[in-house]
Amino acid sequence: MFQPSPWRADFPAIAALQRQHQTYLDNAATTQKPQALLDALSHYYGHGAANVHRAQHLPGALATQAFEATREKVAGWLNAADAQQIVFTHGATSALNLLAYGLEAQFEAGEEIAISALEHHANLLPWQQLAKRRGLRLVILPLDSSGHIDLDAALQLIGPRTRLLAVSQLSNVLGTWQPLQALLDHARAQGALTVVDGAQGVVHGRQDVRQLGCDFYVFSSHKLYGPDGVGVLYGRPEALARLRHWQFGGEMVQLADYQQASFRPAPLGFEAGTPPIAGVIGLGASLDYLASLDPHAVVEHEAALHRHLLRGLHDREGIRVLGQPQLALASFVVEGVHNSDLAHLLTEQGIAVRAGHHCAMPLLGSLGLDGAIRVSLALYNDSDDLQRFFSALDQGLELLR
Ligand SMILES: Cc1ncc(COP(=O)(O)O)c(C=O)c1O
Repeated sequence: MFQPSPWRADFPAIAALQRQHQTYLDNAATTQKPQALLDALSHYYGHGAANVHRAQHLPGALATQAFEATREKVAGWLNAADAQQIVFTHGATSALNLLAYGLEAQFEAGEEIAISALEHHANLLPWQQLAKRRGLRLVILPLDSSGHIDLDAALQLIGPRTRLLAVSQLSNVLGTWQPLQALLDHARAQGALTVVDGAQGVVHGRQDVRQLGCDFYVFSSHKLYGPDGVGVLYGRPEALARLRHWQFGGEMVQLADYQQASFRPAPLGFEAGTPPIAGVIGLGASLDYLASLDPHAVVEHEAALHRHLLRGLHDREGIRVLGQPQLALASFVVEGVHNSDLAHLLTEQGIAVRAGHHCAMPLLGSLGLDGAIRVSLALYNDSDDLQRFFSALDQGLELLR
């Protein structure tokens, strides 16, 4: 049955891609943008760009107002108590690096950081490198056969030596939601700081960081239908206060002379230099657009497409879907076929999917794989996109087998 997307026409790039015979199914990497975002960028650049937080002139005041309005909107999307808990970074990766650097002084040699076996490199390497610098132990929480963090094992491994837990909300490879609440509650009870990598999770509806009770939550704007070059770090006030300042320059300073300086608290203390102004304003427009949609309709549409995707994969012989994806995406391998050969044939037929290790080499390695193909969906995809993918897949497999 045809499953149309009521929102497809709101994304001009989808029609443009279709004219180029491209079917875009790589949304976990980055999303296409709504017209509302293009309009906001065009308005900002077309009506007078200005730097924020410094100039008294009208363009400066308007830019600052629009920039700070996005901080409020992000706080609303995450249900943060206060917009001052939202720090703009350049992406989820830079937010996680900020944390791994900013928290460095909080650790003593021999203490532990816990992450899971499915983390994206962005939520592995900053902690791995911190562990090396400080002589910490990086504890890897194992997965169960469905691709979820094994809760029983995790609760055993997170103990009084654990000083920090950093986990993804939704796996970018397996499409599995993690048992976050139980993990966070337990880690907090052990006195550990908690970090949620919401890069994939935040895309699928409003979040409630207060309910989660995490110390930090990070995401990238470009996966949430916003511009690239912008990320978000949410922090509880007490947790933000524990961060060491990490980049130094304009706007983050309170007082400076030639020998000494004092620094502002979050958020501005962690936004040194000119921030990505247009990007932040654009993210605000994307959030307004998303807020205007019926969230139940979006969830139902994405769930129906996801069922279609899984059915199609499971119906084909020799295809192994990794884990038990719950939402948004599925990664798979085909018996006797290398993922890069298949990806090549799909690309030739205008199917934009991702192949490779998906920035999660240790996870793929633990599954005995060097890569997999990932199909990832967004609210503008429809069942025709999936039909095109499946017919390209069938043709590709016929050639390769
Ligand atoms: C789960 C997860 N975490 C972090 C990241 C890093 O995001 P960015 O490259 O936008 O910094 C990604 C990107 O794919 C991701 O999927």
